[in-house]
Amino acid sequence: MSSDTPILSIRDLTVDFAPKSGRLPAVSNVSFDVTAGEMMCVVGESGSGKSVTALAIMGLLAADTAISGNILFEGRDITRLSRREWQKIRGRQIGMIFQEPMTSLNPVFTIGRQLVETIRHHERVSVRAARDRAVELLDMVGIPSPRSRLDDYPHQMSGGMRQRVMIAIALICSPRLLIADEPTTALDVTIQGQLLDLLNDLRSETGTAIMLITHNMGVVAEVADRVTVMYSGCVAEQAEVMQIFDHPAHPYTSGLMNCTPKLTVTSAQLNTIPGSMPNPAAAPPGCLFAPRCELAIDACSEGRPAQVNLTGNHSSACIRAEMLLGESAE
Ligand SMILES: Nc1ncnc2c1ncn2[C@@H]1O[C@H](COP(=O)(O)OP(=O)(O)OP(=O)(O)O)[C@@H](O)[C@H]1O
Ligand SMILES: [Mg+2]
Repeated sequence: MSSDTPILSIRDLTVDFAPKSGRLPAVSNVSFDVTAGEMMCVVGESGSGKSVTALAIMGLLAADTAISGNILFEGRDITRLSRREWQKIRGRQIGMIFQEPMTSLNPVFTIGRQLVETIRHHERVSVRAARDRAVELLDMVGIPSPRSRLDDYPHQMSGGMRQRVMIAIALICSPRLLIADEPTTALDVTIQGQLLDLLNDLRSETGTAIMLITHNMGVVAEVADRVTVMYSGCVAEQAEVMQIFDHPAHPYTSGLMNCTPKLTVTSAQLNTIPGSMPNPAAAPPGCLFAPRCELAIDACSEGRPAQVNLTGNHSSACIRAEMLLGESAE
């Protein structure tokens, strides 16, 4: 496979928890690719559909959820797989790290036991070999004196260390793709930076592609190769990271950038985009961002805007995208 062949290709993914209700689906017609070895960031405010997209890829949504579209993993449509077949991919070829490691680790078992059991669930190896592999993995994620930490319980570790353990567990099967859903949000800024560096290093060393979910444009600026901006279950804009920061082509993206926290600013001074996401039960007829958009014109209320392809791999779902690009080029 060439390096730019997508590992993951999502096409028109729609996830509707209440299809007959007339409410907006949690995820609507989302399409994006993640290519081998790249860091693709999915960014958007709370409730924009980031986690639901990740859960759909992992096959972790309830069986009665209405899901349409295609999720191609290494060219195979995994939405057509049986639960059993999906399970072979989940955790082996696609790893996932969740936001709060305390809820994913079992508090009554040591870190070593949890690693050893997971290793032995996937590979037929002795307990001794699994312990050696556990030490190797803890070392790889930057845990000092890993052998002595095997006997620690989760509560004996700091939040950052626990998240490193979760990354180690996700790496057990050397997945081709790692989905990290807000892996650093609950941690302080320094630890957040260290974990992002770790993910970046692992990506370069192992070639694992990473889909990193965040609501923070600062995180995007730090690590992303490419960015997918989501708003209200839809893709607002997609581009290489430099294009997004230098020439944003959706007012929502610019809004997110303006509210990125700076280390020198206290939380009382944080900007937010005025207004809130549309109520799924009473969505506006046109662009879902129009009611909050300073640049909205009458035409923005006439039907949902389609994705417009701009230069390179840049696309935007704003009818004024070309105008915005023209302005940023001046
Ligand atoms: N199991 C569910 N049943 C019904 N609605 C759901 C379910 N899970 C999520 N939703 C809804 O889907 C929408 C998208 O939620 P999602 O969790 O994907 O947001 P998010 O972008 O991950 O937000 P956050 O940044 O807060 O994690 C929300 O409106 C949420 O209330
Ligand atoms: Mg989420």
